[in-house]
Amino acid sequence: MRVLVTGGAGFIGSHLVEASLAQGFEVRVLDSLVTGHLANLAPFQKRIVLQKGDVRSLEDCDRAVRGCDTVFHLAALPSVQRSVEDPSGSHAVNCTGTVNILESARARGVRRVVYASSSSIYGDSPELPKREDQPPRPLSPYAASKLAGELYGRAFSASMGLEFVAMRFFNIFGPRQDPDSPYAAVVPIFIHALRTGKAPTIYGDGEQTRDFTYVTNVAEALLVAAQAPADKASGKVFNVACGGRTSLNTIYETLQSLSGTRLPAVYAAARTGDVRHSQADISAAKAALGWTPRVGLEEGLRLTLAAPAATA
Ligand code: NAD
Ligand code: UD1
Repeated sequence: MRVLVTGGAGFIGSHLVEASLAQGFEVRVLDSLVTGHLANLAPFQKRIVLQKGDVRSLEDCDRAVRGCDTVFHLAALPSVQRSVEDPSGSHAVNCTGTVNILESARARGVRRVVYASSSSIYGDSPELPKREDQPPRPLSPYAASKLAGELYGRAFSASMGLEFVAMRFFNIFGPRQDPDSPYAAVVPIFIHALRTGKAPTIYGDGEQTRDFTYVTNVAEALLVAAQAPADKASGKVFNVACGGRTSLNTIYETLQSLSGTRLPAVYAAARTGDVRHSQADISAAKAALGWTPRVGLEEGLRLTLAAPAATA
Protein backbone atom coordinates (compact mmCIF):
# COMPACT_ATOMS: atom_id res chain seq x y z
CA MET A 1 0.00 0.00 0.00
CA ARG A 2 1.28 3.50 -0.78
CA VAL A 3 0.16 5.99 1.85
CA LEU A 4 0.33 9.75 2.28
CA VAL A 5 0.63 11.12 5.82
CA THR A 6 -0.15 14.84 5.94
CA GLY A 7 1.39 16.34 9.08
CA GLY A 8 3.82 13.40 9.12
CA ALA A 9 6.63 15.47 10.64
CA GLY A 10 4.43 16.23 13.64
CA PHE A 11 4.06 14.36 16.88
CA ILE A 12 1.30 11.85 16.03
CA GLY A 13 2.16 11.85 12.31
CA SER A 14 5.74 10.70 12.92
CA HIS A 15 4.51 7.74 15.00
CA LEU A 16 2.10 6.85 12.20
CA VAL A 17 4.97 7.02 9.69
CA GLU A 18 6.96 4.64 11.88
CA ALA A 19 4.02 2.22 12.25
CA SER A 20 3.23 2.37 8.50
CA LEU A 21 6.83 1.53 7.59
CA ALA A 22 6.72 -1.37 10.05
CA GLN A 23 3.73 -2.72 8.08
CA GLY A 24 5.76 -2.53 4.87
CA PHE A 25 3.89 0.42 3.33
CA GLU A 26 5.47 2.97 1.01
CA VAL A 27 5.20 6.28 2.85
CA ARG A 28 5.01 9.84 1.57
CA VAL A 29 4.77 12.83 3.92
CA LEU A 30 3.31 16.27 3.17
CA ASP A 31 4.26 18.79 5.85
CA SER A 32 4.95 22.52 5.98
CA LEU A 33 7.05 22.04 9.14
CA VAL A 34 5.20 24.88 10.85
CA THR A 35 4.81 22.89 14.09
CA GLY A 36 6.43 19.63 12.96
CA HIS A 37 10.17 18.97 12.98
CA LEU A 38 12.52 17.18 10.58
CA ALA A 39 14.11 15.60 13.65
CA ASN A 40 10.87 13.61 14.19
CA LEU A 41 11.47 11.89 10.85
CA ALA A 42 15.26 11.57 11.10
CA PRO A 43 15.24 7.81 11.88
CA PHE A 44 13.01 7.11 8.82
CA GLN A 45 14.33 9.78 6.46
CA LYS A 46 15.89 7.36 3.98
CA ARG A 47 12.77 5.21 3.78
CA ILE A 48 10.16 7.88 3.04
CA VAL A 49 9.48 10.61 0.50
CA LEU A 50 9.10 13.98 2.21
CA GLN A 51 7.33 16.76 0.34
CA LYS A 52 7.63 20.10 2.07
CA GLY A 53 4.36 21.81 1.20
CA ASP A 54 1.19 23.38 2.51
CA VAL A 55 -2.30 21.88 2.64
CA ARG A 56 -3.67 25.38 2.02
CA SER A 57 -2.31 24.98 -1.53
CA LEU A 58 -4.47 22.77 -3.77
CA GLU A 59 -1.46 22.32 -6.03
CA ASP A 60 0.70 20.97 -3.16
CA CYS A 61 -2.10 18.60 -2.14
CA ASP A 62 -2.58 17.39 -5.70
CA ARG A 63 1.13 16.63 -6.06
CA ALA A 64 1.25 14.82 -2.73
CA VAL A 65 -1.76 12.51 -3.22
CA ARG A 66 -0.77 11.38 -6.73
CA GLY A 67 -0.28 7.62 -6.80
CA CYS A 68 -1.38 7.09 -3.20
CA ASP A 69 -3.97 4.55 -2.21
CA THR A 70 -4.69 5.88 1.26
CA VAL A 71 -4.36 9.34 2.78
CA PHE A 72 -4.00 9.91 6.51
CA HIS A 73 -4.90 13.56 6.96
CA LEU A 74 -3.29 14.85 10.17
CA ALA A 75 -1.94 18.24 9.10
CA ALA A 76 -3.61 20.94 11.19
CA LEU A 77 -2.98 23.71 13.68
CA PRO A 78 -3.86 21.56 16.67
CA SER A 79 -4.34 24.02 19.52
CA VAL A 80 -7.57 25.21 21.14
CA GLN A 81 -5.79 28.28 22.52
CA ARG A 82 -4.22 29.20 19.19
CA SER A 83 -7.62 29.05 17.49
CA VAL A 84 -9.07 31.44 20.06
CA GLU A 85 -6.27 33.91 19.28
CA ASP A 86 -6.29 33.41 15.49
CA PRO A 87 -9.56 31.83 14.30
CA SER A 88 -9.05 32.55 10.61
CA GLY A 89 -5.53 31.07 10.67
CA SER A 90 -6.91 27.84 12.18
CA HIS A 91 -9.78 27.85 9.69
CA ALA A 92 -7.46 28.18 6.69
CA VAL A 93 -5.34 25.16 7.64
CA ASN A 94 -7.92 22.97 9.33
CA CYS A 95 -10.93 23.58 7.05
CA THR A 96 -9.64 24.80 3.67
CA GLY A 97 -6.67 22.44 3.98
CA THR A 98 -9.02 19.50 4.55
CA VAL A 99 -11.23 20.39 1.59
CA ASN A 100 -8.09 20.65 -0.57
CA ILE A 101 -6.96 17.18 0.52
CA LEU A 102 -10.42 15.70 -0.11
CA GLU A 103 -10.68 17.35 -3.52
CA SER A 104 -7.23 16.15 -4.58
CA ALA A 105 -7.91 12.66 -3.21
CA ARG A 106 -11.13 12.38 -5.16
CA ALA A 107 -9.59 13.73 -8.37
CA ARG A 108 -6.61 11.35 -8.14
CA GLY A 109 -8.61 8.22 -7.34
CA VAL A 110 -7.46 7.74 -3.74
CA ARG A 111 -9.40 4.87 -2.17
CA ARG A 112 -9.75 6.14 1.42
CA VAL A 113 -9.02 9.22 3.51
CA VAL A 114 -8.57 8.68 7.26
CA TYR A 115 -9.01 11.98 9.10
CA ALA A 116 -7.63 13.13 12.45
CA SER A 117 -10.60 14.63 14.24
CA SER A 118 -10.79 15.66 17.86
CA SER A 119 -12.74 15.01 21.05
CA SER A 120 -12.97 18.79 21.42
CA ILE A 121 -15.98 18.68 19.08
CA TYR A 122 -18.08 17.26 21.98
CA GLY A 123 -17.55 20.46 23.94
CA ASP A 124 -19.09 20.55 27.39
CA SER A 125 -22.01 18.22 26.74
CA PRO A 126 -22.84 16.78 30.19
CA GLU A 127 -23.02 13.09 29.22
CA LEU A 128 -19.94 11.04 29.99
CA PRO A 129 -18.45 9.03 28.47
CA LYS A 130 -18.79 10.70 25.07
CA ARG A 131 -20.35 8.53 22.38
CA GLU A 132 -19.98 9.21 18.68
CA ASP A 133 -23.74 9.70 18.25
CA GLN A 134 -23.93 12.55 20.80
CA PRO A 135 -24.68 15.93 19.23
CA PRO A 136 -21.44 17.91 18.79
CA ARG A 137 -21.14 21.18 20.73
CA PRO A 138 -17.85 22.83 19.73
CA LEU A 139 -16.69 25.48 22.24
CA SER A 140 -13.67 26.82 20.34
CA PRO A 141 -12.88 27.74 16.72
CA TYR A 142 -10.48 24.76 16.75
CA ALA A 143 -13.29 22.35 17.66
CA ALA A 144 -15.55 23.92 15.03
CA SER A 145 -12.82 23.54 12.40
CA LYS A 146 -12.24 19.84 13.22
CA LEU A 147 -15.98 19.18 13.05
CA ALA A 148 -16.18 20.98 9.70
CA GLY A 149 -13.48 18.63 8.39
CA GLU A 150 -15.56 15.62 9.46
CA LEU A 151 -18.66 17.02 7.78
CA TYR A 152 -16.80 17.75 4.55
CA GLY A 153 -15.34 14.25 4.53
CA ARG A 154 -18.70 12.62 5.05
CA ALA A 155 -20.20 14.83 2.33
CA PHE A 156 -17.46 13.80 -0.13
CA SER A 157 -18.12 10.20 0.83
CA ALA A 158 -21.89 10.49 0.35
CA SER A 159 -21.87 12.51 -2.86
CA MET A 160 -18.67 11.41 -4.61
CA GLY A 161 -17.92 7.91 -3.34
CA LEU A 162 -14.60 8.75 -1.69
CA GLU A 163 -14.17 6.47 1.33
CA PHE A 164 -13.72 8.53 4.49
CA VAL A 165 -13.21 7.62 8.16
CA ALA A 166 -13.04 10.21 10.95
CA MET A 167 -11.05 9.30 14.06
CA ARG A 168 -11.75 11.51 17.10
CA PHE A 169 -8.55 11.57 19.13
CA PHE A 170 -8.78 12.36 22.82
CA ASN A 171 -5.73 13.86 24.59
CA ILE A 172 -2.71 12.15 23.07
CA PHE A 173 0.76 12.11 24.63
CA GLY A 174 4.07 10.36 24.08
CA PRO A 175 7.64 10.74 22.85
CA ARG A 176 8.37 13.51 20.27
CA GLN A 177 5.55 15.76 21.53
CA ASP A 178 6.84 19.33 21.46
CA PRO A 179 6.96 21.01 24.90
CA ASP A 180 8.37 24.31 23.64
CA SER A 181 5.59 25.96 21.66
CA PRO A 182 3.31 28.43 23.46
CA TYR A 183 0.50 26.08 22.38
CA ALA A 184 2.07 22.89 23.69
CA ALA A 185 -0.07 20.17 25.28
CA VAL A 186 -0.10 19.66 29.02
CA VAL A 187 1.79 16.35 29.39
CA PRO A 188 4.98 17.51 27.60
CA ILE A 189 4.75 20.82 29.49
CA PHE A 190 4.60 18.97 32.83
CA ILE A 191 7.49 16.66 31.88
CA HIS A 192 9.60 19.59 30.67
CA ALA A 193 8.89 21.41 33.95
CA LEU A 194 10.05 18.41 35.99
CA ARG A 195 13.19 18.05 33.85
CA THR A 196 14.14 21.71 34.16
CA GLY A 197 12.93 22.34 37.72
CA LYS A 198 10.61 25.22 36.68
CA ALA A 199 7.17 24.93 38.29
CA PRO A 200 4.37 24.34 35.73
CA THR A 201 1.08 26.27 35.71
CA ILE A 202 -2.22 24.47 36.18
CA TYR A 203 -5.12 26.47 34.72
CA GLY A 204 -8.22 26.31 36.93
CA ASP A 205 -8.36 24.03 39.98
CA GLY A 206 -6.71 21.08 38.21
CA GLU A 207 -9.78 18.91 38.70
CA GLN A 208 -10.71 19.09 35.01
CA THR A 209 -10.34 15.62 33.46
CA ARG A 210 -9.09 14.20 30.18
CA ASP A 211 -8.91 10.75 28.58
CA PHE A 212 -5.11 10.77 28.22
CA THR A 213 -4.00 8.28 25.54
CA TYR A 214 -0.55 7.02 24.57
CA VAL A 215 0.39 7.78 20.97
CA THR A 216 1.14 4.28 19.64
CA ASN A 217 -2.47 3.33 20.41
CA VAL A 218 -3.50 6.05 17.97
CA ALA A 219 -1.14 4.96 15.19
CA GLU A 220 -2.54 1.44 15.50
CA ALA A 221 -6.14 2.71 15.35
CA LEU A 222 -5.39 4.71 12.20
CA LEU A 223 -3.84 1.72 10.44
CA VAL A 224 -6.81 -0.47 11.32
CA ALA A 225 -9.22 2.23 10.10
CA ALA A 226 -7.38 2.39 6.78
CA GLN A 227 -7.68 -1.35 6.20
CA ALA A 228 -11.12 -2.21 7.63
CA PRO A 229 -13.83 -3.24 5.14
CA ALA A 230 -15.66 -0.23 3.67
CA ASP A 231 -19.03 -1.26 5.14
CA LYS A 232 -17.53 -1.19 8.67
CA ALA A 233 -15.55 2.03 8.35
CA SER A 234 -16.42 4.36 5.50
CA GLY A 235 -18.58 7.35 6.37
CA LYS A 236 -18.16 6.49 10.06
CA VAL A 237 -16.72 8.29 13.08
CA PHE A 238 -14.76 6.61 15.88
CA ASN A 239 -13.44 7.77 19.25
CA VAL A 240 -9.75 6.97 19.80
CA ALA A 241 -8.84 6.95 23.49
CA CYS A 242 -8.41 4.65 26.46
CA GLY A 243 -11.89 5.13 27.92
CA GLY A 244 -10.61 6.54 31.23
CA ARG A 245 -10.77 9.96 32.87
CA THR A 246 -7.89 11.47 34.85
CA SER A 247 -7.61 14.92 36.43
CA LEU A 248 -4.67 17.20 35.74
CA ASN A 249 -3.80 17.11 39.44
CA THR A 250 -3.57 13.30 39.28
CA ILE A 251 -1.48 13.34 36.10
CA TYR A 252 0.94 15.79 37.66
CA GLU A 253 1.11 13.75 40.89
CA THR A 254 1.80 10.57 38.89
CA LEU A 255 4.53 12.24 36.83
CA GLN A 256 6.17 13.55 40.00
CA SER A 257 6.16 10.13 41.61
CA LEU A 258 7.32 8.27 38.45
CA SER A 259 10.19 10.72 38.00
CA GLY A 260 11.01 10.93 41.70
CA THR A 261 10.81 14.75 41.63
CA ARG A 262 8.74 17.05 43.87
CA LEU A 263 7.92 20.43 42.37
CA PRO A 264 4.65 22.13 43.40
CA ALA A 265 2.62 23.57 40.51
CA VAL A 266 1.37 27.16 40.34
CA TYR A 267 -2.38 27.61 39.85
CA ALA A 268 -3.86 30.28 37.52
CA ALA A 269 -7.30 31.22 36.12
CA ALA A 270 -8.99 28.64 33.85
CA ARG A 271 -8.53 29.11 30.10
CA THR A 272 -11.24 30.47 27.80
CA GLY A 273 -12.91 27.71 25.79
CA ASP A 274 -11.50 24.98 28.05
CA VAL A 275 -13.63 21.84 28.36
CA ARG A 276 -14.23 20.67 31.97
CA HIS A 277 -14.49 16.89 31.56
CA SER A 278 -13.64 14.55 28.72
CA GLN A 279 -13.87 10.77 28.53
CA ALA A 280 -14.50 8.48 25.59
CA ASP A 281 -16.71 5.51 25.01
CA ILE A 282 -14.49 3.40 22.75
CA SER A 283 -16.87 0.52 22.16
CA ALA A 284 -17.64 1.56 18.56
CA ALA A 285 -14.00 1.26 17.43
CA LYS A 286 -13.68 -2.03 19.31
CA ALA A 287 -16.81 -3.48 17.69
CA ALA A 288 -16.40 -2.22 14.11
CA LEU A 289 -12.61 -2.13 13.73
CA GLY A 290 -11.52 -4.72 16.31
CA TRP A 291 -9.17 -2.07 17.75
CA THR A 292 -8.29 -1.80 21.39
CA PRO A 293 -5.66 0.42 23.06
CA ARG A 294 -2.72 -1.72 24.16
CA VAL A 295 -0.70 0.77 26.23
CA GLY A 296 -2.36 2.10 29.39
CA LEU A 297 -1.94 5.52 30.98
CA GLU A 298 0.74 4.77 33.56
CA GLU A 299 2.83 2.64 31.19
CA GLY A 300 2.53 5.40 28.57
CA LEU A 301 3.71 8.05 31.04
CA ARG A 302 6.62 5.81 32.00
CA LEU A 303 7.61 5.33 28.33
CA THR A 304 7.31 9.06 27.69
CA LEU A 305 9.48 9.97 30.69
CA ALA A 306 12.08 7.42 29.54
CA ALA A 307 12.25 8.80 25.97
CA PRO A 308 14.67 11.57 24.99
CA ALA A 309 13.28 15.13 25.15
CA ALA A 310 11.67 16.30 21.87
CA THR A 311 14.12 18.26 19.71
CA ALA A 312 13.60 20.95 17.08
P1 NAD B 1 1.58 18.51 15.51
O1 NAD B 1 1.54 20.01 15.55
O2 NAD B 1 2.76 17.84 16.11
O3 NAD B 1 1.36 17.99 14.04
C1 NAD B 1 0.70 18.71 13.04
C2 NAD B 1 1.55 18.66 11.80
O4 NAD B 1 0.87 19.33 10.73
C3 NAD B 1 2.90 19.35 11.98
O5 NAD B 1 3.94 18.53 11.50
C4 NAD B 1 2.77 20.60 11.15
O6 NAD B 1 4.01 21.09 10.64
C5 NAD B 1 1.80 20.16 10.07
N1 NAD B 1 1.09 21.29 9.45
C6 NAD B 1 0.47 22.31 10.09
N2 NAD B 1 -0.04 23.17 9.20
C7 NAD B 1 0.25 22.67 7.98
C8 NAD B 1 -0.01 23.10 6.66
N3 NAD B 1 -0.66 24.27 6.43
N4 NAD B 1 0.40 22.33 5.63
C9 NAD B 1 1.08 21.19 5.85
N5 NAD B 1 1.40 20.73 7.08
C10 NAD B 1 0.97 21.46 8.13
O7 NAD B 1 0.24 18.04 16.24
P2 NAD B 1 -0.30 16.59 16.62
O8 NAD B 1 -0.59 16.62 18.06
O9 NAD B 1 0.59 15.55 16.07
O10 NAD B 1 -1.69 16.58 15.84
C11 NAD B 1 -1.92 15.83 14.66
C12 NAD B 1 -3.41 15.82 14.35
O11 NAD B 1 -4.13 15.22 15.40
C13 NAD B 1 -4.02 17.21 14.16
O12 NAD B 1 -4.94 17.13 13.08
C14 NAD B 1 -4.77 17.47 15.45
O13 NAD B 1 -5.86 18.35 15.25
C15 NAD B 1 -5.20 16.07 15.81
N6 NAD B 1 -5.44 15.88 17.22
C16 NAD B 1 -4.39 15.88 18.12
C17 NAD B 1 -4.64 15.64 19.46
C18 NAD B 1 -3.56 15.62 20.49
O14 NAD B 1 -3.87 15.37 21.67
N7 NAD B 1 -2.31 15.83 20.16
C19 NAD B 1 -5.96 15.39 19.89
C20 NAD B 1 -6.98 15.44 18.96
C21 NAD B 1 -6.72 15.65 17.63
C1 UD1 C 1 -5.99 18.74 23.30
C2 UD1 C 1 -5.26 18.91 21.98
C3 UD1 C 1 -6.21 19.15 20.88
C4 UD1 C 1 -7.23 18.07 20.89
C5 UD1 C 1 -7.91 18.00 22.25
C6 UD1 C 1 -8.94 16.92 22.36
C7 UD1 C 1 -3.05 19.83 22.21
C8 UD1 C 1 -2.22 21.06 22.31
N1 UD1 C 1 -4.36 20.04 22.09
O1 UD1 C 1 -6.65 19.94 23.71
O2 UD1 C 1 -5.54 19.13 19.65
O3 UD1 C 1 -8.14 18.25 19.89
O4 UD1 C 1 -6.92 17.74 23.22
O5 UD1 C 1 -8.39 15.66 22.35
O6 UD1 C 1 -2.57 18.71 22.21
N2 UD1 C 1 -3.28 23.04 30.93
C9 UD1 C 1 -2.68 23.44 32.10
N3 UD1 C 1 -1.39 23.91 32.04
C10 UD1 C 1 -0.69 24.00 30.88
C11 UD1 C 1 -1.31 23.55 29.68
C12 UD1 C 1 -2.61 23.08 29.74
O7 UD1 C 1 -3.30 23.43 33.16
O8 UD1 C 1 0.46 24.45 30.91
C13 UD1 C 1 -4.66 22.52 30.99
C14 UD1 C 1 -5.61 23.11 29.98
O9 UD1 C 1 -6.20 24.30 30.45
C15 UD1 C 1 -6.62 21.95 29.85
C16 UD1 C 1 -5.76 20.70 30.03
O10 UD1 C 1 -4.58 21.13 30.68
O11 UD1 C 1 -7.57 22.01 30.88
C17 UD1 C 1 -5.39 20.05 28.72
O12 UD1 C 1 -4.86 21.05 27.87
P1 UD1 C 1 -4.13 20.73 26.48
O13 UD1 C 1 -3.06 19.72 26.70
O14 UD1 C 1 -3.78 22.02 25.84
O15 UD1 C 1 -5.25 19.93 25.70
P2 UD1 C 1 -6.75 20.29 25.27
O16 UD1 C 1 -7.05 21.73 25.36
O17 UD1 C 1 -7.62 19.33 26.01
